[in-house]
Amino acid sequence: MERGMLAVVLEGWGDPEVLQIREVPRPRPGPHEVVVKVRASGVNRADLLQRRGKYPAPPGEPQDIPGLEFSGTVEEVGEEVSLWRVGDRVMGILGGGGYAQYVAVHERAAIRVPAGIPLEDAGAIPEAFLTAYDALFRQAALTEGETVLIHAVGSGVGTAALQLAQNAGARSIGTARAPWKLDRALELGLDVAVEGGEDWVQRVLNATGGEGVDVILDLVGGGYLAGNLKVMATGARQVVVGVPSGSRAELDLRWLMTRRALIRGTVLRGRPVEEKLALSREFEHRVVPLLAARKIRPVLHTALPAHQAAEAHRLLEDNRTFGKVVLLWD
Ligand SMILES: NC(=O)c1ccc[n+]([C@@H]2O[C@H](COP(=O)([O-])OP(=O)(O)OC[C@H]3O[C@@H](n4cnc5c(N)ncnc54)[C@H](OP(=O)(O)O)[C@@H]3O)[C@@H](O)[C@H]2O)c1
Repeated sequence: MERGMLAVVLEGWGDPEVLQIREVPRPRPGPHEVVVKVRASGVNRADLLQRRGKYPAPPGEPQDIPGLEFSGTVEEVGEEVSLWRVGDRVMGILGGGGYAQYVAVHERAAIRVPAGIPLEDAGAIPEAFLTAYDALFRQAALTEGETVLIHAVGSGVGTAALQLAQNAGARSIGTARAPWKLDRALELGLDVAVEGGEDWVQRVLNATGGEGVDVILDLVGGGYLAGNLKVMATGARQVVVGVPSGSRAELDLRWLMTRRALIRGTVLRGRPVEEKLALSREFEHRVVPLLAARKIRPVLHTALPAHQAAEAHRLLEDNRTFGKVVLLWD
C-alpha cells in the first residue's frame, strides 16, 4: 500500500491562503537517493513567486508543492547509496517539493549538518549559504582585502554573504531600506551599513575613500543598477542574484568600459543537476567546516509550524524578516 505524508500544497495561484496542508504520496528512494524525514523547510522569495504562478518548478519537480531546501534525518537509503546511513543529519537544496514531511534527493545533494547545529536552524542554511558562497567566490572571485557591497543585506542570502565575506577577510558594505535590519547586520559583523535611500551612492563612495567596491552582490535588481555603476572600482564584478525591485534598467556602457567591469547573472534552481551536485559537495568541504567551528552561523528570523505556511509567506512579502524563515514538521 502507498504510504502517505503531509505537505503544504498550492491549491491554486494567488494570495498566501492558497497554501494548504494536504496528504500526498510519500517519495521512495531511487537507487542513488536518500529519503529524508524533514524537520525544517526553508521559505524563499522564489516560493512567493511560484505561489502567484510566476515561477513554475522545473520539469520533473513537484509542481504543486513549493520549497527549495530542507534539513532533517535520513530515513531510507537507496540500494546504491554509499555516503549516508539511516539517522544521519543532512540538509540540502531542491528543485521543488520542500514543504513536505519527506523529500527524496540524490545522495550527493545531501550535505552534512554539523553536530551542535539544531536541525531547526539548519533549515535556514542551504539556499542562502549556497547562493551566497557560489556568487561571491565561484562567480565574483572575491578575495581577502577586497570590499564587497551587498544590497538587501538583511535578507537570507545577504546575512549569509556578509558572514562569508567577513570570514574570507573581505570588507563588507551593506544596504537595506529598514534601519533596524542594518543594526542587526552590524551586530552580525557587517563593516559599513548604508540606508538604501537616495544618497546611498555617495555614502558607499565615502566609505571607500572614493575608490568604490570590488564586488557587488545584487539581491535587489533594476533600481540599483545606475548607482552600482557609479560605485564600481576598476575591475569590479557584479553578480545579479535577485530582482525584487524590477528586472529592467538602463545601462550606460561607458561606465562599464572605463571601469573594465563585469556584470553577470545567476540562478541556482534552473542549473543542470550535475552542477548542483558538484556545488553541494564543494560546499560540504569548504563551508560546513566554518559552520561546525561556529565561524559563521545560520540566521533564523523565526520558525513556524508547517501549517502556518501562509503566515510565513506574509512575513517575507511584507519585508518583515531579518535572515530566514523556516517551517517545522513534527
Ligand atoms: N539566483 C538565485 O539562485 C537565488 C537564490 C536565492 C535567492 N535569490 C534571490 O535573492 C534575493 C534574496 O533572497 P532571500 O530569500 O534572501 O530574500 P529575503 O530574505 O526575503 O529578503 C529580501 C529583501 O530584499 C529587500 N527588498 C525587497 N523588495 C525590495 C525592493 N523593491 N527594493 C529594494 N529592496 C527590496 C527587502 O529588504 P529591505 O526591506 O531591508 O530593503 C527584503 O527583506 C531575492 O530576490 C531572491 O529571489 C536568488
